[in-house]
Amino acid sequence: MIPIANPQIGTEEKERVEEVLDSGMLADGPEVRAFEAEFAEFCGADQGVATSNGTTALHTAFEALDIGAGDTVVTSPFSFVASANAIRLAGAEPLFVDIDPETFNLDPEAVKAVVREQDVDALLAVHLYGLPADVAALREIAGEYDIPLIEDAAQAHGATYRGESVGSLGDAACFSFYPTKNMTTGEGGMVVTDRDDVAENAASYVNHGRPPEGGYEHVRVGQNYRMTSIAAAIGRAQLERLPDYVEARRENAARLTSGLADTSVTTPSEPEDRKHVYHQYTIRTSERDGLAEYLEENGVGSGIYYPTPIHEQPAYEEVNCDAQVTERAAEEVLSLPVHPSLTTDDIETIITGISEYEQQR
Ligand SMILES: Cc1ncc(COP(=O)(O)O)c(C=O)c1O
Repeated sequence: MIPIANPQIGTEEKERVEEVLDSGMLADGPEVRAFEAEFAEFCGADQGVATSNGTTALHTAFEALDIGAGDTVVTSPFSFVASANAIRLAGAEPLFVDIDPETFNLDPEAVKAVVREQDVDALLAVHLYGLPADVAALREIAGEYDIPLIEDAAQAHGATYRGESVGSLGDAACFSFYPTKNMTTGEGGMVVTDRDDVAENAASYVNHGRPPEGGYEHVRVGQNYRMTSIAAAIGRAQLERLPDYVEARRENAARLTSGLADTSVTTPSEPEDRKHVYHQYTIRTSERDGLAEYLEENGVGSGIYYPTPIHEQPAYEEVNCDAQVTERAAEEVLSLPVHPSLTTDDIETIITGISEYEQQR
């Protein structure tokens, strides 16, 4: 079976982890500081605060920006539920706004319409599947209403928008290093930001409200959302290979797109001003469920991200939301393997599987 994801752990990761284990410094420490600095630099941002996962990175960013009870955060209903859960964990409420059908990201026109009508305290832009949202338009709205723009970059390590790296496009950006992501630390996350106040608040929040210099004066109530040094060691090795991983994903995506040109499926779009990093290579087809089953029978794994929009999840059933583009996308999307370890034969097998399915119907 060609898997939908295949985390790559090499000898470098193992050696670095062994060094950390030998050092005895297993929890927070210099290894985590080094990873924060290196990853922030990769994103073109000034500072990074490592966290235990992507969800805690998002929660931490809201706390650091003082978004909480009584606040409303505009976001996409077409994301992993963590985007919305983090808003609620901070005590705020998500306000779901529909997506653009081409990019699967927030539709800035729809955001504009909502922000004109209602009080909104922040925007959370998800860069779904590794394609940056339309950040210029969202920045303009955030600027006009003087509210922060937060990036949910959990799926978009290395992506760019008009030449600028994801992670440096708003007031704060949050990444996940879950094993299926474009780079991993096992479990892990990071908040990156150019704002000193946000970095300081975030570093304190993940460490029980301690001031940066440490000690036992707790200036706010916080959490233990710290990253371990073991995770940071894996992350530092992965970060060195991230540019190669991104290029391999982009090459695989280009081959899939050209191989699928004669089929009826809609392949992913990459607007000229953006660099897609293909965390997922997601096609659209009205035959989605039958195709997924056929591929499975023929040795090709696939995934549906996400079958249920967040506003239709039981935990969010009381929210009001008109998101027909999202609802249709949820019925039609299918993600195909695009990870760096695919071989030329694997890609042929995927393309042939889809062509055969169409021919036999
Ligand atoms: C868009 C998005 N946001 C947030 C998260 C949460 O990250 P984590 O699973 O590391 O908590 C994920 C990861 O699954 C994600 O895909």
